[in-house]
Amino acid sequence: MPPIQAPFPHARPRRLRASSAIRAMVRENTLTVDDLIWPVFVRAGEGIEEPIPSMPGVARHSIDKLSDAAREAEALGIPAICIFPYTDPKLKTADCAEAWNPDNLCNRAIRAIKHAAPNIAVMTDVALDPYNINGHDGFVIDGEIRNDETVDALIKMTLAQADSGADIIGPSDMMDGRIGAIRGALENAGHQNVTIMSYSAKYASAYYGPFRDAVGASGALKGDKKTYQMDPGNSNEALRMIERDIIEGADMVMVKPGLAYLDICHRVKTEFEVPTFAYQVSGEYAMIQAAAQNGWIEGETVMMESLLAFKRAGCDGVLTYFAPQAARTLTQ
Ligand code: PBG
Repeated sequence: MPPIQAPFPHARPRRLRASSAIRAMVRENTLTVDDLIWPVFVRAGEGIEEPIPSMPGVARHSIDKLSDAAREAEALGIPAICIFPYTDPKLKTADCAEAWNPDNLCNRAIRAIKHAAPNIAVMTDVALDPYNINGHDGFVIDGEIRNDETVDALIKMTLAQADSGADIIGPSDMMDGRIGAIRGALENAGHQNVTIMSYSAKYASAYYGPFRDAVGASGALKGDKKTYQMDPGNSNEALRMIERDIIEGADMVMVKPGLAYLDICHRVKTEFEVPTFAYQVSGEYAMIQAAAQNGWIEGETVMMESLLAFKRAGCDGVLTYFAPQAARTLTQ
């Protein structure tokens, strides 16, 4: 049923836009600091903040610097931080064993952040790409991305992260059956309270380019990820993936990328009513920053408008490289 309205001039919709006070009263959606998850990049060394050229304003932090950043995020009220490691190319192998090394960069970073900023939730990424010589999220055997062998490895990776203190596990690999397998393994290991935010509807997207620079996977990647990540033309399939992951034990689900897939976010929230998140990915971030740096758009305003769009689409929150900047804008 269309909304009821008096005919003009009795209805003058502009009345509700006439002042900032009235606009605030009738605003349907708002962004708060609670909605932000901050993805961060960690690298080896000490005292290092290494800028990532394709992501202006984003750096790879050594663990000590990352701890400082986590403290700052906690003080801003950002509820969660998500760790992505830049792995030394020498540690990348075909068997990806570094992925479940209890002392790998990611696991050390988890422990450091839990120590430095105990009130911020720590999220991790579960996929083999940072550790794989060929840049893929799964094992490559005879040119094929192998599903079941990869899931076994993802379980080992997850348990090492959970043992290190991770609060939220984020499987981003798009292998079949991984959520159920990971949930079962967490239960058996006594990690009943570790939550899973599944990258359920993750598309094979060109928007991930700058991220692959950031984690050092761009040069490594052989081919593309289309045999496991979703086809951008599909929408019903996203709902099937979300439903499957909920049934297998995901607590929260994610759609990725963000802005170009808001229709998916909206369908997911409307049809399943589960905690739904979007990932405003590296390419989206880079586009806004690049245009802002050229003076072609007002970066700050476009940032806030893009983040609000996720709320309007029905998302409960958004992973965004803008998290600290947006939090400062919201709290100042
Ligand atoms: C790894 C992973 C990717 C991103 C998050 N986890 C890249 C990929 O799938 O190739 C992308 C994030 C971004 O672009 O900001 N599985």
